[in-house]
Amino acid sequence: MHQLVNDAMRRIVAHIESLPSQPASNVDGAAEIARTLIEPLPQAGTPYDQILDFLFDDAIPRSFNAAGPGYLAYIPGGGIFHAAVADLIADAVNRYVGVFAPAPLLVQLEANVVRWFCEIVGFGAGSGGLLTSGGSLANLTAIIAARRTILGDDVSRATLYCGDQTHHAFQKAAVLAGFPAANIREIPSDAMFRVRVDRMAERITRDRADGFNPFMLCGSAGTTATGAVDDLAALGQLARSESLWFHADGAYGAFFMLTARGRQAMRGIDQADSIILDPHKTLFLPFGTGALVVRDASVLRRAYSFHAEILPQFQEGAELIDFCEISPELSRDFRGLRVWLPLKLFGIEPFRQQLEEKLDLASWATAELHKIEGIEVIAEPQLSIVGFRFVKPGADPDALNRNLMARINARQRVMLTGAVVDGKFVIRICVVSHRTHRDRMEMCLEDIRAAVESLRG
Ligand SMILES: Cc1ncc(COP(=O)(O)O)c(C=O)c1O
Repeated sequence: MHQLVNDAMRRIVAHIESLPSQPASNVDGAAEIARTLIEPLPQAGTPYDQILDFLFDDAIPRSFNAAGPGYLAYIPGGGIFHAAVADLIADAVNRYVGVFAPAPLLVQLEANVVRWFCEIVGFGAGSGGLLTSGGSLANLTAIIAARRTILGDDVSRATLYCGDQTHHAFQKAAVLAGFPAANIREIPSDAMFRVRVDRMAERITRDRADGFNPFMLCGSAGTTATGAVDDLAALGQLARSESLWFHADGAYGAFFMLTARGRQAMRGIDQADSIILDPHKTLFLPFGTGALVVRDASVLRRAYSFHAEILPQFQEGAELIDFCEISPELSRDFRGLRVWLPLKLFGIEPFRQQLEEKLDLASWATAELHKIEGIEVIAEPQLSIVGFRFVKPGADPDALNRNLMARINARQRVMLTGAVVDGKFVIRICVVSHRTHRDRMEMCLEDIRAAVESLRG
């Protein structure tokens, strides 16, 4: 066991230490190589060294450097190493945490993590939730819980409301939860990419008049494209007055509630009935770590509890939790440890400081972008994402900006991705990784300036 871990460890340390100098993305030709890997079930083993060589020399380098400081694309994660150690412990001891009785103390640690998340978003006594593999499954778990709480089996006239900037995971989850796709209302956004609450209210009224049964609305606590935060207080009020379930997508944004600026931007989020958060985004944990919290924990038990003779007895009170009773899963990994260990080891303060730094870096980058002639900031950061484009008279704006982004990324120090908002292709900088600091943002701005100069013509 020591040798297995030590051999892997040597490579892991070398890999992590080289993250800053690795290219931000290295996937040219990788699909062809991936095709060559297709093979039948191995009948014989392969030496461990050979496997490690393959992983660290061939497979891992041919990726987006998603854990590196230059990854400013999509929504970065990071993956703090302490969480990997927690995973090693969890997998090695392999305790069963789907049910309380087989590992009461370990289940309690995970339940504590959920409680801490409730605290972060401002939920009080009676709230609860669970960890999931990500935001998509958290959305699905929430929508099914809401459906089973409010609606009967017939959902054919039930309608759901979200913004045109809402992450598609919400709509996908709604369809998977059994709602007709045609019953999902995508409401337009304002100039800051926040859903128009007045238009949503109008649509709800119209739907009621047309015989529909308005059921749920979703607000974004940080959209993926531009980081826009909907007016959650107004959405909460609308949901209350219309008796709708208020769901908030905080997969990217909700952990910014740890900062004063985040709490200001997300005022009203505590009015939500359900909130998703992704620790694998803004808590810097490894991919595969999402969370759902609900204001009234009893809705989860009502939605997901099934009697099973073959299992140990479930806990009776609200205090002790059997995760299988409040979620779709029975057997599952002990994902709680990868959240609990780093939080217990460091406390929340370093996480808060990291998030403050990301907000500062996004503001700094925006101020620098404003100084570049021809750059138009399309989306000022509401959290840690800024959207911009280059304007050059006579040039096709979308082609110009796709070209600009390719030139920035070709320098390999940062990786940026774009989004189409309001019909325009916009380049985004999304600062989230715990490894991204001012030095990398300066490189990012240098590369943007150089790429802009190369295109001035
Ligand atoms: C705002 C938002 N919501 C939901 C999701 C879906 O989450 P996940 O990828 O963890 O399933 C994402 C990101 O991927 C997101 O950015």
